[in-house]
Amino acid sequence: MPQSGGHDRTFATPTPSCTAVVGLQWGDEGKGKVVDLLAPEHDAVARYNGGANAGHSVVVDGKRFSLHLIPSGILYPGKRAIVGNGVVVDPWKLVEEIDGLASKGVDTSGLRVSRQAHVVMPYHKVEDGLREDLLSRRDGGSAAIGTTRRGIGPAYAEKVQRAAAIRMGDLVRPAVLRERVQVACDLKAGMLAEWSKGRTDVERMSVSVNGLIDAATAVGERLRPLMADTTRELHGVLSRGGRILFESANGTLLDVDHGTFPFVTGSSCVVAGVGTGAGVPPTRLKRVVGIMKAYSTRVGAGPLPTELHDEIGHRIRERGREYGTTTGRPRRVGWLDLVAVRYSAMINGATGICITLLDVLAGLESIDVCTAYDIDGERTADFPADAATLAGATPVYRSLEGFGADISAVRSMADLPAAARRYVDFVEDFTGVPVEIVSVGPGREQTIIR
Ligand code: IMP
Repeated sequence: MPQSGGHDRTFATPTPSCTAVVGLQWGDEGKGKVVDLLAPEHDAVARYNGGANAGHSVVVDGKRFSLHLIPSGILYPGKRAIVGNGVVVDPWKLVEEIDGLASKGVDTSGLRVSRQAHVVMPYHKVEDGLREDLLSRRDGGSAAIGTTRRGIGPAYAEKVQRAAAIRMGDLVRPAVLRERVQVACDLKAGMLAEWSKGRTDVERMSVSVNGLIDAATAVGERLRPLMADTTRELHGVLSRGGRILFESANGTLLDVDHGTFPFVTGSSCVVAGVGTGAGVPPTRLKRVVGIMKAYSTRVGAGPLPTELHDEIGHRIRERGREYGTTTGRPRRVGWLDLVAVRYSAMINGATGICITLLDVLAGLESIDVCTAYDIDGERTADFPADAATLAGATPVYRSLEGFGADISAVRSMADLPAAARRYVDFVEDFTGVPVEIVSVGPGREQTIIR
């Protein structure tokens, strides 16, 4: 990558066979834009986790594309766009997304979906909603996770429970499909009967054995040409000397193991998920770009130690257009939490960092950055990956000088105001990871590459 002039630091960028882009916070860090920037250097772009809970916005030639299941590499003709086995696929949403892209003139012929990817069935969404409703009614709602209600957790649970799980390949195996749907409906009979009360005939039909089989068979036929052994496809790319870009969904702090459990999603968002979710071993990954916003956001419930409930928080939300791509929910906003980011960089082995939305902070007199927590009277700079402990953390801030000027037209580190450069250097020094990219606006060109 070209070095920007005038800055005294240089960091070598290796030429790896595989690169991963991963969020270092609670999702929505702007991964879509970075994947879009890096995609041209790669032969395939692959998703390895999550489902239609994710939302990537990419602006190309002034057109905004909102992608949920399909990797943003699809916007580059001739590239393979792979939905790996670790993704939970809502096949009806996938068809909707393919049709939406086609209507905007995007060639989707490079898309392949793993036959081993698990299917999000309509009853998974029903269960997700019922669980959230029940949790919202308990203890003043403090136990609700605030999921996207896209059936993600129930679909991953089904996979681990096995007997009633349906994989993409099963959609075109009638006998297997019938058996699995029957078992699922038997196991979920009580829940589905409860949900069906007061519903229309059409709604009740949508969760009946026959209704489910008919719908699943039809969507399976539609998607049959895209189904593939994506692990083999990816290894084929590598054996031909090609490069793969892995695109993580959600964020490290929403990872089911390493995030702020239980306020997390159902999958392995961290880079280690590439091994299980795409079948490509960790030894192939040479570059890991960790994406972080210049501040913090979180959608749904769970601790956000640096959360702002004041005018500054409101201003950041409006300037940063902090509303969910998938659900439209306003995002909770807070100061940058570097304790959390450093932890995420460590878990992912980030080789470089990209800071997004730095332009949103312009105009603030001073900017606070969290560098430690006080927990139970003890000061610590270690992130507790557990919601109960984190909920009791009081952030310790370092106040940095703000930068007044609009920076959305800046294209080199040298042209950034000195205070903005110091902010970037502070991130780098605190995390010990080089900042490779700084994004100052949604457009492709609004990017500073060091
Ligand atoms: P689920 O993934 O729908 O089960 O939701 C679990 C938690 O993860 C909730 O707090 C969601 O708001 C959050 N979440 C899931 N996907 C995303 C995402 O792409 N961006 C931000 N938050 C997400």
